[in-house]
Amino acid sequence: IGSLIVTALISYLWGSIPAGYWMGKLLRGKDYDIRDHGSRKIGATNVQRTLGTGPALIVLIIDLSKGVGPALLATLVPFFHGGGWGILVAGLAALLGHCYPIFIGFKGGRGVLTGAGVLLVCSPLTFLIAAITTISTISIWKYVSLGSIVGGATAIICGIIFYVLGVTQPGFFAAVSLPQFLYMLIAPSLIIIFHRDNIGRLLAGKERKLGQKVPDPT
Ligand code: G3P
Repeated sequence: IGSLIVTALISYLWGSIPAGYWMGKLLRGKDYDIRDHGSRKIGATNVQRTLGTGPALIVLIIDLSKGVGPALLATLVPFFHGGGWGILVAGLAALLGHCYPIFIGFKGGRGVLTGAGVLLVCSPLTFLIAAITTISTISIWKYVSLGSIVGGATAIICGIIFYVLGVTQPGFFAAVSLPQFLYMLIAPSLIIIFHRDNIGRLLAGKERKLGQKVPDPT
């Protein structure tokens, strides 16, 4: 239990690194807060919308690595392994770090890329399938939020299928452990919940399309 608490703390702090927020300060000066613009989130989508595609790609890589790093730590380093539960603890802590970062008043992003980074370590096949459904959705409808929600749902469905097949068919190539399965249920569910304002805008026909600049909400 002691090592799991340490795992949670390190992963939360790691996930808290507010790359999108710092990108805004770097490009627009110290008085600029990206959370005053666009969707008011610090994720790569809002960076693309407000600061441009190049900066967004850098933030995308950093935010993805904030999931990959803690997940690898919990998978490869025995101290953080926690009998297999380290991945669940590290993954959820990193995700919550991104969404509620301690360094900038607990107002961050929606956790899609950080959550996806953990998933890449948890179940690479699920990451691949979810990336395909997400990117296809974004290409067709141009809503990143809708793509993220579809990707989250894909991860949940894959998690259920791969866990059940792993239990019923010993040696199944894409089997996931119970902690990995729980991550694949809980993290995407949280991410979908974190999109509730996007869901409201989608239903009202008011969601911004990829890169669309519309006046900031007041
Ligand atoms: O990752 C968040 C994305 O799905 C939506 O971002 O800024 O449009 O709310 P945003």
